[in-house]
Amino acid sequence: MEVIKTIRDMQAMSRGFRLEGRSIGFVPTMGALHEGHLSLIRRARDECDVTVVSIFVNPTQFGPQEDFDRYPRDPEGDLKKLRPIGVDVVFMPEVQEMYPHGASITVDVGDIGRILCGKSRPGHFNGVATVVTKLFNIVMPDRAYFGQKDFQQSVIIKRLVRDLDFDIDIVVCPIVREPNGLAMSSRNLYLSDEERQAATILYKALKFGEEQITSNGIRDAVKVKREMERMIASEPLARIDYVEIVDTEELLPVDTIKGPVALCVAVWIGNTRLIDNMVIDTSGRTGTEPASGSQRDDINLKHPGVKSIGGFIEERLGGFMKKIKRLESFDLYNIVISEVEKSIISMVLRETKGNQLRASKLLGINRNTLRSKIKKLGIKIR
Ligand code: PAF
Repeated sequence: MEVIKTIRDMQAMSRGFRLEGRSIGFVPTMGALHEGHLSLIRRARDECDVTVVSIFVNPTQFGPQEDFDRYPRDPEGDLKKLRPIGVDVVFMPEVQEMYPHGASITVDVGDIGRILCGKSRPGHFNGVATVVTKLFNIVMPDRAYFGQKDFQQSVIIKRLVRDLDFDIDIVVCPIVREPNGLAMSSRNLYLSDEERQAATILYKALKFGEEQITSNGIRDAVKVKREMERMIASEPLARIDYVEIVDTEELLPVDTIKGPVALCVAVWIGNTRLIDNMVIDTSGRTGTEPASGSQRDDINLKHPGVKSIGGFIEERLGGFMKKIKRLESFDLYNIVISEVEKSIISMVLRETKGNQLRASKLLGINRNTLRSKIKKLGIKIR
């Protein structure tokens, strides 16, 4: 695992990876790593050829009265956690390296940065967007991984990539929770035992809101929100910053719940401000990503009555298994996987008439990954 401190060295390293045709998965963090971060990193490692993690407590996203100085920092502990999970590069710049001229030109995310968390943290999302833009230019990733815990941040980053034309796929990963439901966060380190227990009220309120919508069929968002507020207020150590039920694109409050919505809460527990959320659609599905439209819902590889892909493979390999079971060893896994890979990639490329960008989107893999697979599997594009 390489640890890199300068922008020049990181850019040179990334340029090298790209020249070799290796896809780069990037997980930006502010350190004090916990299982939530590690889940993003494992996903990047599984989906990309190279994994880069940045650790940088970014001063421009903290307000003057906020916790920049006391934000938990544990670089040695972080590196220890990263070594065994197959991270290739850790980028750990100093503030002077990232902002040698101050922050003279910055990114303004507009109105979406002034609602929800932006109301009580003015300028926060401009700071996030500015540092993420810089990190994208330094690391040059193909895919970047963010946690759904910071739901507003993830929506803003997707918009940043869309509006400023970064050729980067943004992957939003599910919230990782403690067994008692508390969403993992570096700021949980601030909590006393008593506060940690009190902090479970955020998840309880979200679960309660979810139940009102999905089990009790309530569609009046104001009513659900009020009841969630009442529940949080019953916890003596909790002080509400906001409870909102918003649409998942513009993050604006809805009156009636239809289509995907996000239940978002920000609550002070003692001196610690915690956030949490839950995305729900009215068919009752909860999860990371709102369903992206009816088109996707219509496509189901597991239609009743249609044999599953696994079923086809088992049927096809049945006779073959009898033959190979006499052998000591055989490369069955790799042979089958590369045959399946080759045939789906060839099929999708035929469908897109050789357009690799479209093919990579339909396959759900990165363009560079597709390019290297085409080469490795010897796929001919007609
Ligand atoms: O989510 C975070 O940890 C930070 O906001 C990020 C994306 C690393 C930018 O500093």
